[in-house]
Amino acid sequence: MSEQALFAVLRRYSYLAPPNRFEFPQDIALGRLQEFLVEKILHNDLLTTYAPSAQYQKTFWRRVIDYLEKRSQEACGKDPDFELSEEIYDHYVELLHSPVDGDGSLLRGLVPSRSFVTYHWQPPGIPGAQSYITTTLLESRNMIESGTTGLRTWTAAFFLAQYLLDNPETVLGKSILELGSGIGFMGIVIASLQVLCRAQDMPLPKLWLTDVDETVLLTCRRNLELPCNLSFSHDAVKTVRIDWFEALDDIAAPRLQSIICEEMDPELIIGSDIVFDPHLIRPLLATVKLAMGGSRKVAIFAVTVRNEATISNFLSSAQDMGLDVEDVPYVESRNGWILPNDVVEDISSVRLLKFSARR
Ligand SMILES: C[S@@+](CC[C@H](N)C(=O)[O-])C[C@H]1O[C@@H](n2cnc3c(N)ncnc32)[C@H](O)[C@@H]1O
Repeated sequence: MSEQALFAVLRRYSYLAPPNRFEFPQDIALGRLQEFLVEKILHNDLLTTYAPSAQYQKTFWRRVIDYLEKRSQEACGKDPDFELSEEIYDHYVELLHSPVDGDGSLLRGLVPSRSFVTYHWQPPGIPGAQSYITTTLLESRNMIESGTTGLRTWTAAFFLAQYLLDNPETVLGKSILELGSGIGFMGIVIASLQVLCRAQDMPLPKLWLTDVDETVLLTCRRNLELPCNLSFSHDAVKTVRIDWFEALDDIAAPRLQSIICEEMDPELIIGSDIVFDPHLIRPLLATVKLAMGGSRKVAIFAVTVRNEATISNFLSSAQDMGLDVEDVPYVESRNGWILPNDVVEDISSVRLLKFSARR
């Protein structure tokens, strides 16, 4: 139990859970807690190379110091040998003197709102896999940055990823097209699953991650290629610019159709949190229709319901365009650890929808 509580601290630090809501395990001896913080967080190779932003680290270590000092005072001599680690203190002082985002790591010179974020998840049902896998991304901490929503990972992406972990046959061995992929969380999870389950000497299926925004796509590519991610070993992941509006344009549509149906020819189409703007509904559905090409292909989308009218419009437009839509029955198991419960919006507002072309 105490190991689990300690792991929860590591996990929450890795995905930048708000430090003011951090609960340190009360029932673990101070010395043991401090040892864990130094060895597993301060000296963690992954979290040193792909470190949270200096701003985040500063807040986190301040909170650690306050907590350790307070508890050692409250203990009134119960922990007489406890001393605050010099390493923790020195690290904090160093952070105080560093520029806001210049933490000496790969983040130097980047926009202050960007940070590396690491998610831990379990690959359920995959014999021999490590107990948890990490996925690291360079993300924005803002909802919108540089005019796009694509630079961070959204709740629907965690939800769909959790569904795929619980139902890995949905993606294993399948060529996949992701629409509005953002910076690649879902793509990295799928690529990781495909790498983990790869049958010896079998080629990996193609995985196409697409988005309209060039900065988003560039960040996505970089995230996929971080050597710490399993997607690094997937040799068939491609990032491609696709603008759904082309599906409505008489001149551009044939080219888009040839790219999707001939070059890519995906067996499955996926998307998360791409139904958020009423103006995008028709272009998005036209792209889905075009990608299905009247075949037996399916599309699975995780949709966050922020506005009921937008979702009703989306569903009725899909019907009008000859697409059948059904809810995918799924109660997320919480066995996997992908959903950071304290940083995501309420997952009860996410719907999992499956589309197929009407015959
Ligand atoms: C809310 S973000 C979701 C990102 C990611 N799927 C997730 O769930 O974390 C919506 C994404 O749709 C992309 N997008 C918006 N309009 C688009 C269009 N016309 N064509 C293709 N992608 C578009 C944005 O660039 C952005 O990456």
